[in-house]
Formats: sequence, structure tokens, C-alpha cells
Amino acid sequence: VHPDRSAGLTLLLHISDLHFGPPIRPDRVHAVRDAIEQMRPDLVVASGDFVQRADFPSQFLAAQDFLRSLSRPVLPVPGNHELPVLNPVERLLHPYTLYRRYIHPDLEPEHRARDVLVLGVNSTKPYLIHGGLTTAGQLSALIRRIGRHDGVSTRVVATHHPLVGLPEYSSWRPQAWASRTLGAFAEAGVELVLSGHFHSFRVVRASDQYRGLTREVFVVLSGSTTSGRVARTHQRGNGFVAISIDPKRFHVTHHFYEEGQGFKADEEAVLQRG
Ligand SMILES: [Fe+2]
Repeated sequence: VHPDRSAGLTLLLHISDLHFGPPIRPDRVHAVRDAIEQMRPDLVVASGDFVQRADFPSQFLAAQDFLRSLSRPVLPVPGNHELPVLNPVERLLHPYTLYRRYIHPDLEPEHRARDVLVLGVNSTKPYLIHGGLTTAGQLSALIRRIGRHDGVSTRVVATHHPLVGLPEYSSWRPQAWASRTLGAFAEAGVELVLSGHFHSFRVVRASDQYRGLTREVFVVLSGSTTSGRVARTHQRGNGFVAISIDPKRFHVTHHFYEEGQGFKADEEAVLQRG
């Protein structure tokens, strides 16, 4: 159960890996729209993989229809499934044409909700098939982007590929150069990173996997909200994450989909801010 919204707390709703196209689950699509209408978050963060196969504009169109049907602001970032795979020339020369047309013209949008700044970072690269990377240039740009905002008390990054691994599953690898990226995020005052890609809900303290960070960075991974492709590593199937932000802590609540009942809150973590 979330702290009272009337207290002026900022509420983010984190959805991910929608994967419009087969095997999308329409009941989940309707249920997450209902949840968004009910919870009325300040911002919906959608951490990538809107489509199953980027080569089919119809899948982007379905994702666009869904995003447009939401009454709340949405901050999207691209996932690896947004890049064409069937046409390598298209992939290298025009990787984001359909994404920009149907999802968002900006690959790294930002949104300010009260004193919370959410910054999109594009971890996909046309030359990487499945994995992700944040370049040094993107990190310097991030510092400049943050510098343009005064009076921000909370900095959040949304990026598709996780900067942490799931140690119990060796095939789930963090982004390349994740240690460098997390170090730069910590230096820039980013406290929270929202990602997807693994189709598995998780809350990870970056200091559990990396030494030498100048401050703690919390990494929240949302499971797939609407796809029938849920990882075998995931025990709960489809879900999304609600995060309410107060000056001292992040309240993270996972919501999982229960057949015939919609999304229900099932697991909560309270993260003390440093
Ligand atoms: Fe992905």
C-alpha cells in the first residue's frame, strides 16, 4: 500500500518490455491501463522493448495506440527489440526510424515531476545484438543535462539494459562498462535507475555488485508488463513497479498480474536514501 498521495509525494509507475506483437497478452494491456488510471502516477516510465519485432510497423502502431490511450505522461526509452533485425543495412543506417515515428522523436527524453528529474538514457546500440552500452559521450551529456535543471532533489535514470547482473543466472549480464557507468551516475547524483530487459522484477543495491561507488545507487528492474514471453527465471509472470519518492526513502511496490483479477501489489521494499 502506497503512502498517501495527498502528502505531495511523487509517484512513478515503471512498466517494461511490453513487446507488442505476438505473444502480447491483451488482458494485461487492459489491466495496466486500468492501474494507471486508478493510481494516477506523476509519470509512467516505460523502459524499452515496446515491440517484439521492429521490422513490422504494425507492432509499433499497436504500441503507439496503447501509449496514446494513457492519460498520464509517459517517458519511453528504446530497447534492443526496437532495432530492425531482418535488414542489416536498415539496422546500421536507420536503426531508430520507426521508434522515432511511433514511440518518441527523442531517444533520451527527460521529464520533471515536482523536484524529481527522470532522464532517459539509450542503452541500445545498432552494433550490439542483445546487450547494451552507455558511452562516455552519453555520460558527459548526462552531466550537462542534469546541470540544466535547478532545484532538483531526486535524479532518476531510465535505461533499458540493466547495469547489474542477476548473479544466480550467469546468462543475464549487465551492460558493458557497467561499473564505469554506475560510477558516473553516482557522481552525478543519480540515486535510482529503472530498467527492464531481463523480464524479471528485482531491486538491487549497486554496492552489492560494485566497489568504490561514491554513493549508493538503487537499480529497480521491472518484469515484462504485458508479454507472454516471461523469463523462466521469473516466478511471478507479468508485472510493473510503483515507486513513490519522499525525501528520506523510496517506496518500491511490485504489482503482479493475477489471472482474472488484474495487477495486485505483492512485494514492497523501502530503500533508505543516503
Ligand atoms: Fe530487451
